Amino acid sequence: MDELAKTTIDRIEKVFDVPAGYRRAHARGKSYRAHFTATGSANHLTKATHFQEGESEAVVRFSHFSPDPKWTDAMSPVKGMAVQFLLPNGKVTNIVGVTSPIFFAKTPEIFSEMLGVVKSFKKGKPSFKELVGLLADYPESGAMLTNIWKMQAPSSFATGQYYAIHAFYFINEEGQRQPIKYLWQPEEVDTLSPLDAISLSSGTFERDIEERVAKGPVKFRLDVILGQPEDPTDDPTKEWPQDREKLTLGTLTIIEAAEEAEEVVFDPTLVTDGIECSEDRILNFRHHAYQISHDRRTLET
Ligand code: HEM
Repeated sequence: MDELAKTTIDRIEKVFDVPAGYRRAHARGKSYRAHFTATGSANHLTKATHFQEGESEAVVRFSHFSPDPKWTDAMSPVKGMAVQFLLPNGKVTNIVGVTSPIFFAKTPEIFSEMLGVVKSFKKGKPSFKELVGLLADYPESGAMLTNIWKMQAPSSFATGQYYAIHAFYFINEEGQRQPIKYLWQPEEVDTLSPLDAISLSSGTFERDIEERVAKGPVKFRLDVILGQPEDPTDDPTKEWPQDREKLTLGTLTIIEAAEEAEEVVFDPTLVTDGIECSEDRILNFRHHAYQISHDRRTLET
C-alpha cells in the first residue's frame, strides 16, 4: 500500500503543477475554528463521545480539489470540507467530505492507473479523447467522469452539500455494527451558474466565506445515512438508495479563522471509539497517501 501510495503521489505531481509546500490535492483552502453541538440522536448506534448530546470543539478546512493552487475557483467544481473534532480525551477524529456523492475509482490501483493515463489535467479537465478512453477502460467510473463535464460547483463554500463518500460503521455499547455514510448539509443549497463561473476571479470563494463568517456564524447540519444489509460498504463509486433512513447528528457552527489548521492532516481513517472504517480500499489507502503528502509538504517549507 505504501509503495503504491508513493507512486500515486509521484503521478499527481507529474500530472498537476504542485508548488513546493502545498498539499498534493486540495492545495488551496481556508481554515476555521468551529464548535459542534450533538443532538444525541444516534446514542443507540454509536458510543463515540462527540456524538453524545453536548458540545465539542472542531476545526474546518474548505478547499478547491485541484492539487494546483493556481487553478481558478471555477476550474475546480468539486469543493472540499474537512472537519477535525477535538475530543475530551485530547485525541482527534476527522470527517472529510466533498461536493460529490461518489468517487470515480473503485480501487487504489485503478485510481493510480487512471492518473498514469491522463496527461492533460494541467488545463483543468482531461481531453475529450482521454475521457472517452477512460470511460471504455473503467466503465464503473462512468458516473463521476461524465459528471465532471456537467458538474456545477456550489456558489459558495457555505452552500455546498459535502459527502464523505465512503461507508463507516457505528459501534454501540453492545458491540452492534451499523453501516453509515456522513453528509454535511448547508443552511441553504445553492449552485453556481455557468455564466457566473466564467467571471469568477481566483480566491472569490475564500473572500466570500471570510465575509460570511465575519457577519455571523456559518452553520452545517451533520446527517448520517443508515445503510441496509444489501448496500455496498466497499465501493465508493456507488451511492446508496435515496430512500434510506437519515438521522441528524448535530450542527457545526463556524466562528472564526484558524490559520494554524492549514498544517493539519485530515486523514479520513482517523476514527475514534464507537466508529470503524469500512473495508473500502480507497478509504484505507488514503491514510498512506495523506501521510506522504504531509511529509513532503512539511519537508519543503
Ligand atoms: C485514491 C484516492 C485519493 C487520494 C490518493 C487522495 C489524495 C489526497 C491528498 C494527497 C491530499 C492532501 C493531504 C495532505 O497533504 O494533508 C488530499 C486531500 C483531500 N482529499 Fe483526497 N484523495 C483521495 C480520495 C478522496 C476522496 C474519495 C475524497 C472525498 C471525500 C477526498 C477528499 C479530500 C479532501 C476534502 C482533501 C482536503 C483535506 C484538507 O483540507 O486538508 N479525497 N487527498
